[in-house]
Amino acid sequence: MRKILPLNFDWRFSPDFKAGYERPDFDDSGFQPAMLPHANIELPYNNFSDEACQFISCYRRRLFLASEDRKKRVILCFEGVMSYAEVYFNGQYVCSHKGGYTPFRCDVTEQAIYGGENVLTVKVDSTERNDIPPFGFVVDYLTYGGIYREVHLELTDGIFIEDVFVRTRNVLSEAKLIDVEITVANPSFRSGEFIAECFVEADPVYNGRRRADAGIGDETGSTDENGNSGIGDETGSTGENSNSGIAGKMILKGNLKLSGEPAVKLRLTGEMRNALLWDVGDPVLYILKARITGDGTDDGYEVRFGFREACFSKDGFYLNGRKLKLRGLNRHQSFPYVGYAMPASAQYKDAEILKNELGVNIVRLSHYPQSRHFLDRCDELGLLVLEEIPGWQHIGDEEWQSVALNNVEEMIMRDRSRPGVVLWGVRINESQDNDGFYSRTNVRARELDDTRQTCGIRNIEGSSLLEDVYTYNDFIHRGNNRALSDPGRVAGKEAPYLVTEHNGHMYPTKRFDNEAKRVEHALRHLRVLDSMYSDPRTSGAIGWCAFDYNTHKDFGSGDLICYHGVMDMFRIPKEAAFAYLSQQDEKPVLEAASSMIIGEFEAAKLERLYIFTNCDYVKLYKNGEFTGSYYPSKEAFPHLPHPPVIIEDFIGDQLEREEGLSKKDAKDVKDVLYAVVRHGDKSLPLKYKLKMGMVMLRTKMPYSKAVDLYSKYVQNWGCKSLTYEFTGYVGDKAVLRTQKGIGGNSRMVVLPDASELREGDTYDVCRVVIKHTDEAGNVLPFSNEAVSLASEGAGEIIGPETFALIGGARAFWVRSVGRSGKFKVTVSSERFPAQTIEFIVKGRLLIT
Ligand code: GAL
Repeated sequence: MRKILPLNFDWRFSPDFKAGYERPDFDDSGFQPAMLPHANIELPYNNFSDEACQFISCYRRRLFLASEDRKKRVILCFEGVMSYAEVYFNGQYVCSHKGGYTPFRCDVTEQAIYGGENVLTVKVDSTERNDIPPFGFVVDYLTYGGIYREVHLELTDGIFIEDVFVRTRNVLSEAKLIDVEITVANPSFRSGEFIAECFVEADPVYNGRRRADAGIGDETGSTDENGNSGIGDETGSTGENSNSGIAGKMILKGNLKLSGEPAVKLRLTGEMRNALLWDVGDPVLYILKARITGDGTDDGYEVRFGFREACFSKDGFYLNGRKLKLRGLNRHQSFPYVGYAMPASAQYKDAEILKNELGVNIVRLSHYPQSRHFLDRCDELGLLVLEEIPGWQHIGDEEWQSVALNNVEEMIMRDRSRPGVVLWGVRINESQDNDGFYSRTNVRARELDDTRQTCGIRNIEGSSLLEDVYTYNDFIHRGNNRALSDPGRVAGKEAPYLVTEHNGHMYPTKRFDNEAKRVEHALRHLRVLDSMYSDPRTSGAIGWCAFDYNTHKDFGSGDLICYHGVMDMFRIPKEAAFAYLSQQDEKPVLEAASSMIIGEFEAAKLERLYIFTNCDYVKLYKNGEFTGSYYPSKEAFPHLPHPPVIIEDFIGDQLEREEGLSKKDAKDVKDVLYAVVRHGDKSLPLKYKLKMGMVMLRTKMPYSKAVDLYSKYVQNWGCKSLTYEFTGYVGDKAVLRTQKGIGGNSRMVVLPDASELREGDTYDVCRVVIKHTDEAGNVLPFSNEAVSLASEGAGEIIGPETFALIGGARAFWVRSVGRSGKFKVTVSSERFPAQTIEFIVKGRLLIT
């Protein structure tokens, strides 16, 4: 049986590498202790040198191999090392790998010492080498450095399963086809006869802990009281090579004959009846456990898959035969301070944020393959994925291109059984045409996976289309013009079409920008989505981007941050985040996108309020008095699933009620007051002057009273400020309420995402959000309170322990350190009482 040993604790790290560091007897006691995922340097939040993480470093780890494993092969598996790795085992060079975003394996059987200690040394080159994508020219993101994903060791039999690819076919019929391709490695060139078996069953995670806390779209799974899925019964039948099974479980069986070849492929197929589909609303997952036995060999391999059919066609995208408009965001995998080096729970959380806090149904992994943990969670949540090879605008020489081709292979081999992945990106993002190179990437992709379409992300019109889908970064929108280009013009008449970026650098927006800017940022995203929904040809639009990110000095706002996210780097929402979230149907949203504080606006005029909501209508109460009911603006956004509610009339029928005006007079006065807002009193068009004159005549209203009405109902300047309450209704049921303008005593809230740190294969992390809010819970966007942290117990704080809030909020992460116990963090500031949060840390059980 194969043994898998995580190798993530107990490393030693040095920020340099010298000849001799790889020798087993080298004294590394001066190195720093390290755990994986590891960042070669902890960076400040912003304003640092983009070269700070570009250096060559050394990682060393001792490991014991038992004598009883003497007959096993010893394979090291690296999930991601940025960006060039050279592996030494017991002092001998074993392998190297170029490319920081894809996994590689390294067989160290020949160098292994059984029944004793072995020393693994990895030289890690994190400089931006011209021979490795995406480097060679400028790049709009930092790539960081180090062994930033996990490492494990596999001890396998001499014959072992190297890969399993599960294809599903006929998924829309009752009898769904499973077609399994098993690659068996035979590095010792043995001969013999073996039995291959595949057990298929519903994935227990489907009903497990992660599903239970998943939020949107997770109420639909059918579960019985014992937490069982009810996805089928036990009856399975077996046969040779063509098998059939029923519902949730089945077995496939076949024979495998080896006559000394280094690797063979075996294909087993079977039909599964009544299996459930994987879909965005109900992502049912199955597990296939493959096993090879015979002649002293017994090896197993597990892979998760789902039954689904995904197709981009010239009239849009279809999932399981149903047309689905894709509403998405791009994700960079970076975090403050530690860059890419975050373990499973932070990766899961990002997928949950995209699904549950941004309400998107697709994410583009810009611009490289991302953590398998992130992809696992996408599969579990029903979040579709566009995955692409590393690269940014620049195509390098032959050697560089061969690394890119390896990247195609490594990406597809890792992720081709995942139901979430619906499209492979096999061009360098926004590069020029290069038919020779891109014919090869497409051929390679199709050889490795004949079930998915390819695309290549472009920023050029009419480019040479070697892929199946024309994917285009469309930055045409400037706020006052069309929101998307004409797909026919960009891609011709026939190609399936998907917009893969929009907005981004066209309107960088900080969470602490003024309100008008934050709202316009949200509206620009909504205009693009509206345009996407209006066009049957366009499969979807994936906005730039989910989260702000650290970048090179050539990009961003000069502080090494690109403020292009709909959330900041801490995953705290800007207004645009609510514009996205309000488009989904699973949970109600009500975000009045204004503080309603008039001093924030030019000439103290708040002309228009946008409420991002999926409620049927919103009732407004001003100073506790009902002003009116307001409905989603179909006129402004005719195609969105949920247009925002736009309020331009904050007066309602108050002029009648409070000033005793007749209906007609009240209407005329309102017209005039709003005309003053639009034109200013000095340039008020004559017709409004006349209108007001008539009202004044009819009601004997003195001029001073007319001016008072303006101050009281429109400008409100110089008066006691108003309070507003908005209530969102679905049918006649009030579902959400929010208040603005109430001020009062502000407070500091400290919100950890979890109360437990649970180690598995490595350490665990948890985010803690700090917000400075008003009494109603609204973040105060111009607060920069200074905060300090103190901690004790079985954990540590990532990043600085003293900082200022940014735009009224900020977050930090804590991490476990390999021990069990309690971990307490106290958050203090001058103005507010200190708050202590406590984590239960379940540390690792095994020391490997
Ligand atoms: C695109 C590019 C992205 C990002 C974006 C900013 O051209 O693909 O990586 O730089 O612009 O809007």
